[in-house]
Amino acid sequence: MKLILKYLKPYVLIVLAIVALTFVQVQTELTLPDYMSKIVTDGIQYGGITDEVPLAVTAKDLELITSFMNEEDRNMILSAYYPVEKGTAKTIDEQEIVFKEDVYLLREDYLFPADVPDVKQTMLRPLVYAYLAKQNGLDTNGDTVAVMKELDAQMEGLEDNFTSMAKLYISDLYTSVGLSTQKIQSSYILSSGMVMLGIAAIGVVVQLLSTYLSAKTSAKVAARMRRDVFEKVESFSSSEFSRFSTSSLITRSGNDITKVQQLIQLMLRMMLMSPIMGITAIIKVTRYPGISWLLVVAVGVIICTAIILVIFAVPKFEVIQKLTDRINSIMREFLDGILVIRAFNAQKREEEKFEDINRSFRKTDRFVSIVMNIIGPVMTLVMNGLTIAITWFSARLIDIDAMTIGEMMAFSQYAIHVVMSFMFVTVMFFMVPRSLVSVRRISEVLDTENTILDPEDVAVLPDENGTLKFEHVGFRYPGAEESVLEDISFTAEPGETVAFIGSTGSGKSTIMKLIPRLFDVTEGKITYCGLDVRDVAQSQLHEKIGFASQKAVLFSGDILSNIEFGREIPEEQIRQAVEISQSENIISEKEEGLHALITQGGTNVSGGQKQRLSIARALAQDKNVYIFDDCFSALDYETDKKLRAALNELIQKTKSTVLIVAQRIATIRNADKIIVLDNGKIVGEGKHKDLLKSCKVYQQIAYSQLSKEELA
Ligand SMILES: Nc1ncnc2c1ncn2[C@@H]1O[C@H](COP(=O)(O)OP(=O)(O)O)[C@@H](O)[C@H]1O
Ligand SMILES: [Mg+2]
Repeated sequence: MKLILKYLKPYVLIVLAIVALTFVQVQTELTLPDYMSKIVTDGIQYGGITDEVPLAVTAKDLELITSFMNEEDRNMILSAYYPVEKGTAKTIDEQEIVFKEDVYLLREDYLFPADVPDVKQTMLRPLVYAYLAKQNGLDTNGDTVAVMKELDAQMEGLEDNFTSMAKLYISDLYTSVGLSTQKIQSSYILSSGMVMLGIAAIGVVVQLLSTYLSAKTSAKVAARMRRDVFEKVESFSSSEFSRFSTSSLITRSGNDITKVQQLIQLMLRMMLMSPIMGITAIIKVTRYPGISWLLVVAVGVIICTAIILVIFAVPKFEVIQKLTDRINSIMREFLDGILVIRAFNAQKREEEKFEDINRSFRKTDRFVSIVMNIIGPVMTLVMNGLTIAITWFSARLIDIDAMTIGEMMAFSQYAIHVVMSFMFVTVMFFMVPRSLVSVRRISEVLDTENTILDPEDVAVLPDENGTLKFEHVGFRYPGAEESVLEDISFTAEPGETVAFIGSTGSGKSTIMKLIPRLFDVTEGKITYCGLDVRDVAQSQLHEKIGFASQKAVLFSGDILSNIEFGREIPEEQIRQAVEISQSENIISEKEEGLHALITQGGTNVSGGQKQRLSIARALAQDKNVYIFDDCFSALDYETDKKLRAALNELIQKTKSTVLIVAQRIATIRNADKIIVLDNGKIVGEGKHKDLLKSCKVYQQIAYSQLSKEELA
């Protein structure tokens, strides 16, 4: 989690913008049910009459209404209206009418009811009296007190319904004035509908914007993470590589980062949205105390389901990720070795290996899928159950006029929002731990401390050639129990060729890897120009050393890019490197010459060609030390000989030091110094002739390779 926050830090402003947008989105989404409720109640039930104060009323009706008031109230109301004689034409609420009888119209300054609570309050009861009196066909005959007494009994306990009765009455009043209630209704519905449409449009825009921002941010974060992982892995020394397998590193920088990207997007959308939505919806829902207990039940069911599922599924997520690693690694090995596997008819064995792991993956994955998919039906059940329950219980409330149909509809929408928010929160309970596994796996890579580092104060190597010296070097591979090298001491002077020979596994390649610090010695030290290689900057050290490893590695690209390898090398140098490494015929036999394509891993050239090209790469720049680890082995004798001669010529000129590891005596017999290794120890050192006499191991190798005449 810390990792994600660290990566999100540069995008604080965007994240804040997304938060703000989310608030707006929630607001828009949650005001819509209110409008819908109003359309249903005010628009449809009350014919578009929003206010309990009539805009126009016939003189007769006003007289009836005011007859239910005391003197003071009556005067107040009468001053709020002004009389209009019959036959006058007027525009009210955008309708033109010619009055057929004397009417009273509400004064302009009373048109905005919010400012005139007095009128509303004073009117309400009398309106209801008048309404009921008309309904019941009661004649006031000036004796309003008796009528009021009679009606009071009817009105007992119906206070909640006064508004609706008043509105129904106002609707009647409008009809008698000559106003079309239908027009009032449709204009109300139309205008509310337009407002709703506007709000919905804002909602859509805001949602698009925040989705866009969160997608962009998460993609950027993922790209940065991928780059950082790549750079980190690039800086890994061999011992760090041995901690993670190659396929695990590939899964981590691919699959795992994608998971994190999804997580971030989820965080920026759902994780922000759900709580805001949930809390706002809950606040709205509390306006309906009669049935909000239903929601408590629904949410309770969801939370219980979620807890049970989390307990079962979450521990499996890590297992799945590990299995993915293993499948990848088996797949990789299989693909790398497919030719060998076929040649040995080992398909069956590979299939079984794969089947094993595939089976456990399938089982775990199926379990998790089942558990995860339980949540869907449960949610649907809860949701539908809730809708039914809401309808059922609000029907009763509507029956006793404690709720309107519009309110019921609004409530069920809010309720769905609440349930959905909780549902998303539960889904998050699954998604987040699953992605956190990936976050942890990425952190592991990023937090790995490099064991081979530059010192704080780097010593600077001189420009000229110097002596390479091993002083009592011992080495143990990280994690290995036994040392592979013991007490190795030798010197290699400028202009000297030092050769290494010994059976496989005797430690030749290991010695070579220690020089450019692919590994650090565990005992003793290696110096160049009198400086410990651990005291100089690795980049400077590598600048001095040309290295051709035992396993020739080519990269996808062309021949030139493989020799240049990201460096700027003059043409003359390239030509020379190609010449010395005997690569000319590789190039001349291709139509595109230096620009002939090399496939990934160099699979379209032979082993010997690969070796020669990687030698050319090592020779393409002037170096002070050249290391050739067993890279003449795939060359035929003739090429080997030519290459050595050319190399010799170069060394005579540049006075560089050359270290050659070889299997063939012929390759090294002319070396200035030959070091014989056996089991990690030096068992002989000297010239070919001397070693033939003094060194048993060397003799054995020599006898197996050379004829008697050659030995003589
Ligand atoms: N990366 C490694 N981790 C652990 N042990 C290794 C590693 N590379 C080589 N070894 C061991 O070190 C010994 C010497 O290997 P190496 O130097 O490659 O021999 P050579 O090049 O002479 O054939 C071998 O016994 C080998 O098993
Ligand atoms: Mg080797």
